[in-house]
Amino acid sequence: MPESTDNSLKTEVKAYWNRASCDTWHAQSQKFTPEYFEQIEEWRYRDQPFIHSFAQFTRYHGKRILEVGFGAGTDFIQWLRAGAVASGVDLTEEALSNLTHRIQVYGLPSPAGIKVADAENLPFDSGYFDLGYSWGVLHHTPDTEKSVRELVRVVRPGGEIKIMLYNRLSLCTFHHWVKYGLFRGRPWRSFRDILWHHMESVGTKGYTRKELHAMLAPLGLTDIRIETFATSYDYLPWKSFPFSVANWALGVLIAMSGNRLGFWHGITARKNRTT
Ligand SMILES: C[S@@+](CC[C@H](N)C(=O)[O-])C[C@H]1O[C@@H](n2cnc3c(N)ncnc32)[C@H](O)[C@@H]1O
Repeated sequence: MPESTDNSLKTEVKAYWNRASCDTWHAQSQKFTPEYFEQIEEWRYRDQPFIHSFAQFTRYHGKRILEVGFGAGTDFIQWLRAGAVASGVDLTEEALSNLTHRIQVYGLPSPAGIKVADAENLPFDSGYFDLGYSWGVLHHTPDTEKSVRELVRVVRPGGEIKIMLYNRLSLCTFHHWVKYGLFRGRPWRSFRDILWHHMESVGTKGYTRKELHAMLAPLGLTDIRIETFATSYDYLPWKSFPFSVANWALGVLIAMSGNRLGFWHGITARKNRTT
């Protein structure tokens, strides 16, 4: 993609996430009050409890963590509560404002540093962090490969990365294809096109496991593990009959696929000690 296209796409991505940070639409209380933050957190970990087993926040006490794309900061405050030496960046002022207020509201320890910055050009020295963490972010930036390379760059040899990226071949993508392709008389639209135009900010991508392995292979990583999570987005949003039956069938399908039809790939890997 030419750089100018890339920049204008990033401007659109930034404008989208500056309107509202992730999950804040689940809060009903006044913005930046304790109740507002409680509602976001309660919703998130009820809906996505597996984030805790993936991130393992409490194991990083005293470690240098970088979170890229902290959004409203729900995961970021877990690093602070766990006593990690946490730094973070996000593309938007809105996210920074959410996180700054959140830290203040809870009286949490100061982070090592939080700022507005771009995942594709991280303002940190190479080899500094014990863990580079990014949940649901890097598929939104125009040059995802570059942002993954950047995350690996700033992690020390022997350190870890933990990233969540969307799975293109998921039931969630299929539901979106039914809604925006099939039901609109355009069944030829590809899953790639559907995610690009109808999943949050424009330009969103999803990856197969094979594509992820190809992306990670040249980066000097070891112990690469991809765990796919089934999410509430892989089910229909309606709970009553007959949707309850459809959701039961989707659950069976997900179980039969060993979760591989879930929307979120959780990737963990270790940076080679020799790089
Ligand atoms: C789906 S939200 C996820 C936020 C948070 N990680 C969470 O799980 O709640 C995507 C976030 O990625 C951020 N983002 C998108 N492109 C970025 C980039 N190039 N650099 C830094 N952050 C970016 C957006 O500003 C937004 O806050």
